[in-house]
Amino acid sequence: MRATDHHSTTIPEVAVTIRVNGRPERLRIDARVTLLDALRDRLGLTGTKKGCDQGACGACTVLVDGRRVLSCLTLAAQCDDREVLTIEGLASNGTRHPVQEAFIRHDAFQCGYCTPGQIMSAIGLLGEGRAGSDADIREFMSGNICRCGAYSNIVAAIREVSGRG
Ligand code: FES
Ligand code: FES
Repeated sequence: MRATDHHSTTIPEVAVTIRVNGRPERLRIDARVTLLDALRDRLGLTGTKKGCDQGACGACTVLVDGRRVLSCLTLAAQCDDREVLTIEGLASNGTRHPVQEAFIRHDAFQCGYCTPGQIMSAIGLLGEGRAGSDADIREFMSGNICRCGAYSNIVAAIREVSGRG
C-alpha cells in the first residue's frame, strides 16, 4: 500500500493491487472504502450483496486468502497484495462449484439475496474443516442470515458436499 496524499485536510488515497478471482486489479481508492464497495462499485462485481453494511448479516461474505471475511467490515486497502475470491470467481470453464451445485440440488435458496454470502461462507467453512456435524454447520454458518428461512436446506447442501450426505 502506498499513501498518495498526506495532506491533512484531504482524504488520503491509496494505490492497491488486489487479486480478484485470479486477476490483479489496480485501484486508487479512498483509504476508507470497504472491500464490499470496491468490489461492487469499482469492479462491477455485484454478486456480493450488501445487506446490513455493518457486519450483522453475512450477505457480503467473500474469501480473502482462503478465509471468510465480511467485506463490509474489511477495508479494500487492507487487501493489497491479497487474493480475494467472490461468487463470480467460483465457476470454472462454465462448470459450477460443487457447493453451487449442491445449493441448487437442495433448493437451498428462495429469494437468493443471501445466497452468494451463504455459498462463500460454506466454502470457507468446508475449507476450515468445520462441517463435521449438522450442529457444527449451523454454528459456523450462524453469521449468515437468511430472511427466507432456507436454513435446513442450506445445511443439507453443505452436509452433502462435506461427504456426509
Ligand atoms: S452486509 Fe456485511 S454483514 Fe451484512
Ligand atoms: S434466500 Fe432469501 S434471504 Fe436467504
